[in-house]
Amino acid sequence: MNNEVIFTIDGVDVSAEKGQSILKAAEAAGIYIPHLCAHKDLIPHGSCRVCTVLINGRPHSACTQPVSPGIIVDSECEEVNNIRKTIIEMLFVEGNHFCMFCEKSGNCELQALAYRFGIFAPTLPYLFPDRELDASHPEFFIDGNRCILCARCVRASRDIDGKNVFQFVGRGINKKVTVNSSSGLSDTDMNKADKAADICPVGAIIKKRVGFAVPIGKRLYDQKPIGSDIENKERSNG
Ligand code: FES
Repeated sequence: MNNEVIFTIDGVDVSAEKGQSILKAAEAAGIYIPHLCAHKDLIPHGSCRVCTVLINGRPHSACTQPVSPGIIVDSECEEVNNIRKTIIEMLFVEGNHFCMFCEKSGNCELQALAYRFGIFAPTLPYLFPDRELDASHPEFFIDGNRCILCARCVRASRDIDGKNVFQFVGRGINKKVTVNSSSGLSDTDMNKADKAADICPVGAIIKKRVGFAVPIGKRLYDQKPIGSDIENKERSNG
């Protein structure tokens, strides 16, 4: 049976496998589609909508939408990039993101996306929410100020670590990530080897005693914009 699906992204013919998401098919073809809640090791969640593309003119999330033969996907166009920029701005103002004081600065996917999209100061009003910190665990602390509700930690702990350390509670503006112990992270069975410990795209889950081991200016996105690894692959493939 032929499992090949041919479709186009920004006018480029892309060959994908039946059932593959548009995001994964694009990456395999060396085309970067900005994304945030998606992660290669996790089941797609489709919550952030940063990966929005137009499919035959209508917006969809590329991480959850499977490829179909002949679809026309627009990713690098003004309409889509304006949607992404607005989402990224909303994520910044909805939490308390003080990049200049954050240990994740330079390794933060949200910050890197803001730079990629030329967002240097949000135009939307800040909400300055009151968020909790949990420094009870000997190895990690959780800073709710920086959480963007991407559910990477929730999915990693549940689907890879098999622990369910993290869950969402509340709804709407009151939604937040919490842990499966009323007395804090120290009373969970989270440990350093957990996938959930390394998968936060922002500085909401931080490891203790390794802060600034790599100096600011020498970190991942200080060197190259987010997405460069995929775009470089495209160039090296000719
Ligand atoms: Fe697709 Fe978040 S990356 S919805």
